Amino acid sequence: MSNTVTLTDNRNGKSYEFPILDGTKGPSVIDISSLYKDTGMFTFDRGYTSTAMCRSAITYIDGEKGELMHRGYDIAWLAKNKMYLDLVYLLFYKHLPSQDEFVSFKKDLKERSYLNEKMLKLFDCFPDKAHPMAVLQACVATMSAYYKRDMNFDDMHDYMELAKRLVAKIPTFIAFHYRHTRGFPTIYPDLDRGFTENFLYMLRAFPHNKVELRPIEAKAFDTVLMLHADHEQNASTTTVRTVGSTHAHPYSCISAGIGALWGHAHGGANEGVIRQLEMIGSVDRVDEFIKRAKDHNDPFRLMGFGHRVYKNFDPRAKVLKGLRDQLINEIGIDSNLIKVATRIEEIALNDEYFISRNLYPNVDFHSGLILKALGIPNEMFAAIFVMGRVPGWLSQWMELKAQDTIKIVRPRQLYVGPTCPPEA
Ligand code: ACO
Repeated sequence: MSNTVTLTDNRNGKSYEFPILDGTKGPSVIDISSLYKDTGMFTFDRGYTSTAMCRSAITYIDGEKGELMHRGYDIAWLAKNKMYLDLVYLLFYKHLPSQDEFVSFKKDLKERSYLNEKMLKLFDCFPDKAHPMAVLQACVATMSAYYKRDMNFDDMHDYMELAKRLVAKIPTFIAFHYRHTRGFPTIYPDLDRGFTENFLYMLRAFPHNKVELRPIEAKAFDTVLMLHADHEQNASTTTVRTVGSTHAHPYSCISAGIGALWGHAHGGANEGVIRQLEMIGSVDRVDEFIKRAKDHNDPFRLMGFGHRVYKNFDPRAKVLKGLRDQLINEIGIDSNLIKVATRIEEIALNDEYFISRNLYPNVDFHSGLILKALGIPNEMFAAIFVMGRVPGWLSQWMELKAQDTIKIVRPRQLYVGPTCPPEA
């Protein structure tokens, strides 16, 4: 049996053969790169729901089984046994770091966590109400003006220099903007602390004040970053790869990824979860909103429920749910928000509408509550997602650049417009 599929055009009876390619795991793909040449036709696949746009050895997802792996390691195992920086290292270098490698990697990040002091003026240019994502996108794009020598990429060392610089500076951008808008004194990064602890320190510290951070806070935040680190060819990663395929500057690619992630159907969802919980406001109003979510004539949707790929459960949500409950118990939060969230979860998990459509809480449902419990303002949630995701984008970008030939991403279309000028 040949490893091909045959396509027959029933209009003229002509048949065409296309090779089937097998990966190491997951569905095989039909290689249709000669389709247009052979048949004069394109494929039509709105939202690329059935299209593999690249070969990748970074992340594997099985949406039916609720499986997520990075370079062969299961996410639940990584979350239990490793830290976010271990995963960043794994994504970049394709293996987990030894103790010495970890220490040296952290030292490299520490040295790159400061901003060029001239960049601090950037923060004066934005209105205080500017959304952190708008500021972050601009700051990252501006890096190409400051680090011009990164323009020539011909070896792994240059890639890594750029990657470490971005991972190290993004938390500083987010924290500096947060403090600047509130008129708080600037707190410089201190990576003698853990990577995660440093970020919470930059948000919370004041000169002469000791920052008290409970281990559960650091663990919960570290896990949120880890669970967002990469998720194969999602909208923002595809954006980074698409911009990268034009040979644009890598900082532009990452800045474009930030723009794509901002949307509420993607990285903006955890901010949306909290906004929605605040809008529902009390447990006795939950039934009314569940009813609205089930009504097809009402555009209302339960934020934090459902996923394009995971149709059984979201493995990231499973990890976060336990941590969320532990964090809330240990900090001792007794908030209305948690009560509303818990009630929604109870109802939805037992309701025929949600069960039959495989609508389970996704990672954003829990991460929003964790970030809220850590005292992080709602409007910063998507920027935290970026902080977690940037190593994923960078490793995908590096994978693209390591190819012998890069094909510019340029899909086709089904034209449905006029074929001659409209009548005057
Ligand atoms: N609330 C109520 N009904 C829902 C929801 C929801 N959150 N999500 C899907 N449905 C229903 C749809 O109305 C549809 O019902 P029907 O079959 O009777 O018409 C069915 O479930 C399938 O929905 P689709 O929109 O086709 O599913 P899709 O896979 O395209 O969408 C998405 C996935 C965008 C995540 C969707 O579930 C949603 O909008 N969720 C809320 C937003 C959210 O939480 N986004 C975060 C995603 S995770 C991330 O980006 C990290």
